[in-house]
Amino acid sequence: MYTELDNNEVIIADELGKRRRYSKPLYTTYFGEMYYGLSEKVLSHNKIKEKYEGKVQLIFTSPPFPLNAKKKYGNLTGKKYIKWLSKFANLFKNYIVEDGSIVIEIGNAWEPKKPIMSTVVIKSLLEFLEKGNLNLCQEFVWFNPAKLPSPVQWVNVKRIRVKDSFTKIWWMSKIENPKADNRRVLQEYSSRMKSLIKNQKYNSGRRPSAHKIGETSFLTYNEGAIPPNVIDGDYVESLTNILKGSNTGSVEKYQSYCRGNGIASHPARMPSSLAEFFIKFLTSENDIVLDPFAGSNTTGYVAESLNRRWVGIEANWNYAPHSLARFPINNIVSTGREIQINSKT
Ligand SMILES: C[S@@+](CC[C@H](N)C(=O)[O-])C[C@H]1O[C@@H](n2cnc3c(N)ncnc32)[C@H](O)[C@@H]1O
Repeated sequence: MYTELDNNEVIIADELGKRRRYSKPLYTTYFGEMYYGLSEKVLSHNKIKEKYEGKVQLIFTSPPFPLNAKKKYGNLTGKKYIKWLSKFANLFKNYIVEDGSIVIEIGNAWEPKKPIMSTVVIKSLLEFLEKGNLNLCQEFVWFNPAKLPSPVQWVNVKRIRVKDSFTKIWWMSKIENPKADNRRVLQEYSSRMKSLIKNQKYNSGRRPSAHKIGETSFLTYNEGAIPPNVIDGDYVESLTNILKGSNTGSVEKYQSYCRGNGIASHPARMPSSLAEFFIKFLTSENDIVLDPFAGSNTTGYVAESLNRRWVGIEANWNYAPHSLARFPINNIVSTGREIQINSKT
């Protein structure tokens, strides 16, 4: 396969890739390494263990969902899914540092041919927690108002359910108090809060909810508001100025690379800003972030942009090598022999 990338020629050898070794990165950048293979195999390899076991600050990932309609990269359902996901609990746990975190995002699932939700997602997450003897630090909801209506049969055709517009995010850890700092993900104050701080006036006293609001509780300017655990798709898109622009650039670069080479881009990419929220909240610069179901490597790209080291693992050859199109070519330090970059300048 041939393409132009930042005025360089990139050749990806399909056949070679399918036989490649698990323990060698497909490409490396200033801050990270991308591996091709099943993450259970890559993470069980001695060389990878030596390099990363017990050293990862955050595992941030969106595994395949237990969907009834099969996605292009395949997915299990029911009890098989529960068993499959939970087998990663101890493996992941071994890779994180003592105060590290595991954050998993999973969408909702429905019973086949019935207007009834499946409980597989909840059971899988519970089983994952129990198998790994992990703590559930907090549950988040990723509210995505732009999601297309589904399940179509019950929402659009029969009109007996409303559209499913959130995914669950579980933040888990070994210890009760993993590294975290909400000051790194503060939101802009609402206009009401801004005028309250400016005017230094509001009604204190007891609220109907029984909360007692002090006379000065809301008068200090604290750089921003503490975010809720419902992450609003519209809000996170404007979360930060650091990545704004460059994020969009990375997605556009990836998409135009895929279009230009007749490759289907990843069908389930997550927004960069979602990865950004958790990476900032739960890690510091130079920490290691691992995404064992990396897809188009959104996590790695965002980690790199935030000066965090990263490791990505992806089992599908249609996605793993092509994810390098997200990075400025100058950030790519080396590639496996399946990927050849010829500089034209
Ligand atoms: C929901 S997608 C992740 C999308 C990703 N967050 C992104 O933004 O592009 C899940 C990915 O996991 C990959 N996958 C499934 N099973 C895997 C395994 N055992 N090891 C590594 N990758 C796997 C799939 O090929 C798919 O690309």
